[in-house]
Amino acid sequence: FRVFRWTWRLTYLSLLGGIGYVGYGIYQDRHPEPQADADPTKKTLVILGTGWGSVSLLKKLDTENYNVVVISPRNYFLFTPLLPSCTTGTVEHRSIMEPIRTILRHKKAAVKFYEAEASSIDPERKVVRIADNSEVQGDMTETEVPYDMLVIGVGAENATFGIPGVREHSCFLKEIGDAQQIRKKIMDCVETAAFKDQTPEEVDRLLHMVVVGGGPTGVEFAGELQDFFEEDIRKLVPDISDRFRVTLIEALPNVLPSFSKQLIDYTESTFKEEKIDVRTKTMVKNVTDKTVEAQVTGPDGEKQTIIFPYGLLVWATGNAVRPVVKDLMSRIPAQKDSRRGLAVNEYLVVQGTRDIWAVGDCAVAGYAPTAQVAGQEGSFLARLFNNMAQTQALEDKISDLSSSLNLQPGDAAEASRRLEEYQRQLRRIKNIKPFHYSHQGSLAYIGSEKAVADVSWFNGNVAAGGRLTYLFWRSAYLSMCFSSRNRLLVLNDWFKSKLFGRDVSRE
Ligand code: FAD
Ligand code: NAI
Repeated sequence: FRVFRWTWRLTYLSLLGGIGYVGYGIYQDRHPEPQADADPTKKTLVILGTGWGSVSLLKKLDTENYNVVVISPRNYFLFTPLLPSCTTGTVEHRSIMEPIRTILRHKKAAVKFYEAEASSIDPERKVVRIADNSEVQGDMTETEVPYDMLVIGVGAENATFGIPGVREHSCFLKEIGDAQQIRKKIMDCVETAAFKDQTPEEVDRLLHMVVVGGGPTGVEFAGELQDFFEEDIRKLVPDISDRFRVTLIEALPNVLPSFSKQLIDYTESTFKEEKIDVRTKTMVKNVTDKTVEAQVTGPDGEKQTIIFPYGLLVWATGNAVRPVVKDLMSRIPAQKDSRRGLAVNEYLVVQGTRDIWAVGDCAVAGYAPTAQVAGQEGSFLARLFNNMAQTQALEDKISDLSSSLNLQPGDAAEASRRLEEYQRQLRRIKNIKPFHYSHQGSLAYIGSEKAVADVSWFNGNVAAGGRLTYLFWRSAYLSMCFSSRNRLLVLNDWFKSKLFGRDVSRE
């Protein structure tokens, strides 16, 4: 009985603690402290992008040390790990967006934000050319922003490898707009298939959802899509439900190449149970408005062409370099051998430049293009820049003190004590180590409330898959959400879709 009483008390206390923590987070969000004005006499630090790399940098940067300017066509941060869940309405899109204005309002000193795209960077003149490509435009749509220091965190665009028809006919899955478009198109395919007197062949085509690319994006999307059908559409539109099919096409011999063999096998067998058709060693060569043409390599090495008629095609074959990055690379001789983005050194300085750093998917630092890497790189740069500002302040103090040592002989002892202290601090601060990535593990949702996880554990690796891993996946991503607001909204969405089912209206 006593054990029961203590367990009850502990649960009660942790619940109170949790509510207090969330409540404090909400209060802070709503009542930011007064903010110092930006100081244009300080060095201008321009940050491009509002993704994982740039926002992690902003989160930890002491903005009072610089005149900070952020430029991005997207005025929000997007929590990409839950983007596949938005395509089916398991999570609503606004739940995983955090306005950049809210983030910046919580910094000690004000930060300027321009909603614009950087179209080119001139490292000689130290200026970024920016353009407002949004729907509403004023008289001024293009201008230049000068910088003293520049951080490029513009991410990557979708790779299509120049395959004909991909850009015209498929949906990508990188931005909020992509997820919204997919959600709309799934329901359009379903309603069109249910149209009076639709031919059986056309129903089969419309309800065939093809996903190209068996990396984590393609796998997670295929899993979410199959869930949506099994849990909601099957019940609401039963007459056509057994014609629904998901096919996942992958050029390599297996899906999820970056996961361990055990988890690859687990994913492929789970997909088989879920009736997701996985076609490995199948490379898409051409896309039309209704078909995908792919080349399959048989066990004897023989190549064969297959045509897949489709209703919805989602293209998830990884990253390509953005034009603004390509343009900058072409201006820097040291970048001529780099293919996948801006080659950076161990302090994330773009090779062959001065005062330009790069983070995340647009930087080539020897790591995979993931949110984890981009986040850690951003935090590293924040520490580096905070240190640089402190170093500058200390060097100024040392120079002032050294020049005044002989002026006030009475204070000389005190002054040299302070000088020594500053020099000691300076040595400590200057001793910043190069960037080192610490891999926490990889997680992916594979449908039917199952997930796979390759997690680092005491210098080793633990591979796990199943329903428990799914709970771990959910709690990990919930805790990683940007703000308390995001956490509450995501929790609410999960609860809502479980209780009432996903919303199948086509907006
Ligand atoms: P992004 O986050 O893509 O941000 C780039 C920013 O630059 C955006 O704000 C964009 O608007 C802006 N921008 C673009 N062009 C310009 C321009 N010309 N000028 C100025 N700004 C510009 N990784 C994980 O580790 N775990 C996961 O679970 C995971 N899930 C994912 C799910 C999906 C569906 C996708 C697509 C990716 C996922 N990733 C995951 C990968 C992760 O999202 C990326 O590695 C990460 O977003 C890279 O961060 P970034 O800052 O380099 O770029
Ligand atoms: P990816 O590069 O990981 O996978 C793309 C896949 O498409 C590859 O396996 C490739 O062989 C295949 N492919 C390429 N061309 C093809 C063709 N013509 N026909 C058939 N298949 C073709 O890309 P993805 O999944 O978009 O991921 C991008 C990055 O984001 C990765 O670094 C990934 O780790 C990260 N990410 C991580 C997630 C997670 O940890 N849960 C979720 C989503 C993305």
